[in-house]
Amino acid sequence: MDRTSVFAARLNSAMQTHGFKQIDIVHRAEESGVKLGKSHISQYVSGKTMPRPDIVRFLAATLQVDERWLRGEDTALPQQPSPGTAAPSIDGPSKGKPMRRFPKSSKLDNVLYDVRGPVVDEAARMETDGTSVLKLNIGNPAPFGFRTPDEVVYDMRQQLTDCEGYSPAKGLFSARKAIMQYAQLKGLPNVTIDDIYTGNGVSELINLSMSALLDTGDEVLVPSPDYPLWTACVNLAGGTAVHYVCDEQSEWYPDMDDMRAKITDRTKAIVIINPNNPTGALYPREVLQQIVDIAREHQLIIFSDEIYDRLVMDGLEHISIASMAPDLFCVTFSGLSKSHMIAGFRIGWMVLSGNKRIAEDYIEGLNMLSNMRLCSNVPAQSIVQTALGGHQSVNDYIVPGGRIYEQREYITEALNSIPGITAVKPKAAFYIFPKIDVKRFNITNDEQFALDLLREKKLLVVHGGGFNWHEPDHFRVVYLPRIEVLKDAVDRMTDFFGHYRQ
Ligand SMILES: Cc1ncc(COP(=O)(O)O)c(C=O)c1O
Repeated sequence: MDRTSVFAARLNSAMQTHGFKQIDIVHRAEESGVKLGKSHISQYVSGKTMPRPDIVRFLAATLQVDERWLRGEDTALPQQPSPGTAAPSIDGPSKGKPMRRFPKSSKLDNVLYDVRGPVVDEAARMETDGTSVLKLNIGNPAPFGFRTPDEVVYDMRQQLTDCEGYSPAKGLFSARKAIMQYAQLKGLPNVTIDDIYTGNGVSELINLSMSALLDTGDEVLVPSPDYPLWTACVNLAGGTAVHYVCDEQSEWYPDMDDMRAKITDRTKAIVIINPNNPTGALYPREVLQQIVDIAREHQLIIFSDEIYDRLVMDGLEHISIASMAPDLFCVTFSGLSKSHMIAGFRIGWMVLSGNKRIAEDYIEGLNMLSNMRLCSNVPAQSIVQTALGGHQSVNDYIVPGGRIYEQREYITEALNSIPGITAVKPKAAFYIFPKIDVKRFNITNDEQFALDLLREKKLLVVHGGGFNWHEPDHFRVVYLPRIEVLKDAVDRMTDFFGHYRQ
């Protein structure tokens, strides 16, 4: 076992001895003025990361165990609480009764979403204290000057008064028709208007599609690194996200041997994110074909998250995997948050295709959940037709001279010129996932690295662990800011890596 796993095992055992739940530790930290959030402790307990030394010290004191033992050193067993010093209660009396506390559901114990996690909390705290932070952590186009096309805003304004009521659960006919036509252009087989569901962003539909499918113990293959909502929603739905590795040496394509090796008789589905967040990879036909072959052999559903499908550079073509699998059941996700720079309007969709007969019961479940949330945001649905038709302003961004293209060129070069950092050039989306030479910087905890970078250079990135990447050797940069701003960010990183040792 590595040190992080030993630490997690010992932490769990000490918590059990004292009857402490994660929330109890969080409350103890609050009371002691120690900054320790719910998602931190959940990461420690699940063996994702090791805490900083001061937090290990706090945990050891709280759990009354030897700090070195907890850290994973081969040393004495934990001290047992001496008689009369039972685990301290966090509950003060209230009119003679212990005060009732409301911990979060244990369903959330294995749920992580560090794109807006503890490092971001620290950035928010710094900003509250008046420090300005340069943020490269979130794929939200509007704050970086990418504006919604005027025609889209105009059309929404025109239709607003017609959008006061609920729409049908799956969405307005006009929106779904436009999505259906888009699906036809992408070659998705066997798609009718009934197979299209609009959602409050793809996010809502990821959650809905996993909730309708999974029973406790069901497994879903999810990429590592991933967009973490996928892992979170699989786990929240009671399933188990089993990660297959994407290989940096091969343009970040999925490692097929690893994918095959991870399939068990509980595996129900494969998730792919293509184009990929956080790596910016785009999968060619040969790669997709191998995934289809695996899914076919093991009778798996394919979930394909294609929200960046219109942000592809270098004249490459995005291929929807569903177009290659008419005999399989596929669910394809996309939306307007990224390609149309309207993340705040909240509109996305999913399209069922291929062999729907084998999924009749599942589709009933999807319909039930879709009906239960009544409908997605209707004003946002009203502009889908406008957005998907006509001139696509995003096309100007992704060619030479366009902002996304030029920013990608700059950031790839600049990151690769920092000693100890290497990065595969992204082909799509607006993220890059550089590798850190951890030996050079003695980095063992990537969240700590992100915190140190934030505190010293006022620069916010997301550590690789936030994308279910299990080595402490990567981080993600969002390259939406203009080149001047990216240059400032790279200068700060160059300075930081010039001296940093963990
Ligand atoms: C791969 C991927 N899927 C889905 C989403 C969520 O998109 P939406 O705004 O449609 O909820 C994101 C957002 O960053 C993403 O990167």
